[in-house]
Amino acid sequence: MKEYQDYSLLKHNTFGMDVKAKRYVEYRSERELKRLIPTLQGEVLHIGGGSNLLFRGDFDGTVLHSAIKGIEIAEEVEGEDEVLVRAGAGEVWDDVVAWAVAHGLGGLENLSLIPGEVGASAVQNIGAYGVEAKDVIAMVEAIDMQRGEKRYFATVECDYAYRQSIFKNQLKGKYAITYVVYRLQKTPVLKLEYGNIRSVLGDQANVTIADVRQAIIDIRNAKLPDPKVQGNAGSFFMNPVVSREKFLSLQKDYPQMPYYEVEGGVKIPAGWMIDQCGWKGKALGRAGVHDKQALVLVNLGGATSDEIIRLCDTICKDVKEKFGIDIHPEVNMI
Ligand code: EPU
Repeated sequence: MKEYQDYSLLKHNTFGMDVKAKRYVEYRSERELKRLIPTLQGEVLHIGGGSNLLFRGDFDGTVLHSAIKGIEIAEEVEGEDEVLVRAGAGEVWDDVVAWAVAHGLGGLENLSLIPGEVGASAVQNIGAYGVEAKDVIAMVEAIDMQRGEKRYFATVECDYAYRQSIFKNQLKGKYAITYVVYRLQKTPVLKLEYGNIRSVLGDQANVTIADVRQAIIDIRNAKLPDPKVQGNAGSFFMNPVVSREKFLSLQKDYPQMPYYEVEGGVKIPAGWMIDQCGWKGKALGRAGVHDKQALVLVNLGGATSDEIIRLCDTICKDVKEKFGIDIHPEVNMI
């Protein structure tokens, strides 16, 4: 176990906010976590790679971080196509994707290069290029933060929805995820329908999951800023879902508007609306809108959380005025 007081979180949030935690503890096993639980006082925040967080200021409590490692085949039945792979919550997400691709196991490749760690990816139900974490998760293992008991969540119990889960809602702060089990395929079924995956792959024959991973990496690198170079937390906003009526009336005014039919309505890309409002590549103080993907807010260097929030609020107001749609941050503000 590693423990620090008045610890700088600068390296633990990709937005690059220089804030401090009163206490910071990193544990390496479920046993260490269980030992730690009775010592916790006041507010507790569990973080992963800090790639979806915006700290508003110092955190006057304990920040916990899992360093539970390990990626292994948990179950493989002879003659069956599915394989269960179990990963520790503290594994870097993309390392798990790379491991699966190297072992010829399909299912994770479209989620290549998403920043963050395994535990948080199951809380946030990360998604990209037509795949969400919930599509590949078979089970989530967690520890009850009150009683220290282990609980196994079947995927249906996790209440997964777009960037949502029970761990962000009803059970917020109640459980710490320790392992996630994924259901992967020995004979991968490629998902190439989203956006420009096919055009990036070109007319290659016999496309493999390694090719898909590389194409996704190329697309992401071209569109999304590298947090090591420019602080950011990926998509700052969620894509709103509007009613069919609202969509049809908007489509009359904006025939070029991209959209996706989803359960309960039509999803409109917030990035497109922000772009239409003229915000792409613009800034307010030291908080900016990425010049290649307007859904991403960036720290242009030394931005305070107030500057980022001011930009967020201004964008929300402009989108509401132009399109009559409320957009909401995807980033968790602490
Ligand atoms: N668009 C614009 N201008 C922009 C941004 C987007 O016109 O500045 C248009 C695009 O041309 C496209 C549509 O909007 O027609 C959608 O854009 P894109 O495919 O880039 O995806 P997105 O909806 O903006 C979502 C996820 C991303 C994920 C991509 C790809 C959310 C909040 N974001 O973005 O996730 O990588 O799809 O699947 O759902 C993240 O969550 O951090 C993240 C990066």
